[in-house]
Amino acid sequence: MERVLLFYEKEDYYDYKDSKSLEGYSIISITKFIHNLSLISELYPETLIVDLSALTEYTTIQSVSERIIYQFKPETILICDKAKQEKLEYELRFIIDRFENINRASFTDKERKITVDTEDENLITKRHRKIIDLDESELEIFFEKFRKRLYGHAKFKDDFEEQVRTFRVFNKLKEHKILSLFLMGESGVGKTEVARTIFDCLQGNKKLAKINFGNYSNEFSLSSLIGSARGYIGSEDGEIFMKVRETDVGVLLIDEFEKSNSALFNYFLEVLESGKMTSSLGEEMDINGFIIVFTSNIPKSDFQKRISPELRSRFDYKCIFTLLSDVDKRKYIEFRAKSIGKKVRSELGIEISDKLIPYLISQINVSSYKNMRDINKELKKEFLKFLTAYQNSIDEIDNNTSPQRTGLAKRFLSLFEY
Ligand SMILES: Nc1ncnc2c1ncn2[C@@H]1O[C@H](COP(=O)(O)OP(=O)(O)OP(=O)(O)O)[C@@H](O)[C@H]1O
Ligand SMILES: [Mg+2]
Repeated sequence: MERVLLFYEKEDYYDYKDSKSLEGYSIISITKFIHNLSLISELYPETLIVDLSALTEYTTIQSVSERIIYQFKPETILICDKAKQEKLEYELRFIIDRFENINRASFTDKERKITVDTEDENLITKRHRKIIDLDESELEIFFEKFRKRLYGHAKFKDDFEEQVRTFRVFNKLKEHKILSLFLMGESGVGKTEVARTIFDCLQGNKKLAKINFGNYSNEFSLSSLIGSARGYIGSEDGEIFMKVRETDVGVLLIDEFEKSNSALFNYFLEVLESGKMTSSLGEEMDINGFIIVFTSNIPKSDFQKRISPELRSRFDYKCIFTLLSDVDKRKYIEFRAKSIGKKVRSELGIEISDKLIPYLISQINVSSYKNMRDINKELKKEFLKFLTAYQNSIDEIDNNTSPQRTGLAKRFLSLFEY
């Protein structure tokens, strides 16, 4: 198959991009691949368009291009700003078989655009598994798993179920685009875990889309979040677009929401309202049907001060997560102990669960911990102690110190990670 490079006129860029995104394509600048070669294998060639314009910024165009372009499947569409045509036609003459102009008629024909609109809308939204797409029995399973995975917070779990059910109805009526949850409360009680759990229960295989607003507290935050300013065609779009594109589940986590500034708050007002995210290049991404989980550590008393009334009223559900009860903390330890036990059995063929679970429960005084992360740390420490005792007991029975045996603790520990 021939490799073709298509040139676009600058003023056509957005029309081309829009029409292609309706067909399910995304345009990514070559610079992204230069920084991260492994991205090539992660993206699907059949929906990928690579913009080569930025190559002219490199002094060694030929060698950079040879390294990268051959790695794309031949069906990957390659495009470039017409202003760079002369330079790239020369530099890429050994790599590209044919140079052509993009056929304007294929995307400036508005009628055609309208006809593909409705079909292709599905194409874009189908990429993410969303709560609105589950049928009734799938939804039942979803809630059952969700309730099991997240410990405590009984009221929240009931409310969440009700929120989701209402959302599904009004979303169908096109009256409610995004379900937004705002979770406050102390550290380590499961706020972020809510988004992780939704992601897992919707069977996400890729990565949860997560943005930490703590990283977006300066004056340039909005442009780094939603892309660089106009004029830099082909440059990277912002983190939020990348994260949403790279995930396979319709949930977005915004951590440390209060750390950001009013520009970002206002941007999100618009997103919640319209169900669309717009990049600074004018690119729109439809996130209708998504759940957005905002988390924050601000105390309840500061909520009114820090979050504007417009925004406050825009969240569908606000909740303060309280500390888990001792009973829930013990259940959590039991769950962790079981999962470690299972891993040990399947990886090393040794059965320790029946001893490990009661050991961990008896050793960890749950009432002295508020943050579940601290309980996790304690679990790790106690597990190490358990291992030492276990090792001593088998060494006593059999005085053999084979290398396999001495490496036991290390191998156990590597299983401890999630
Ligand atoms: N209710 C819970 N159910 C299950 N696991 C939990 C729960 N609360 C905390 N955890 C566990 O503790 C760890 C920390 O929880 P999480 O990240 O949700 O804290 P957080 O409330 O978001 O805290 P922070 O405000 O510091 O971000 C998680 O990895 C999770 O395994
Ligand atoms: Mg968190």
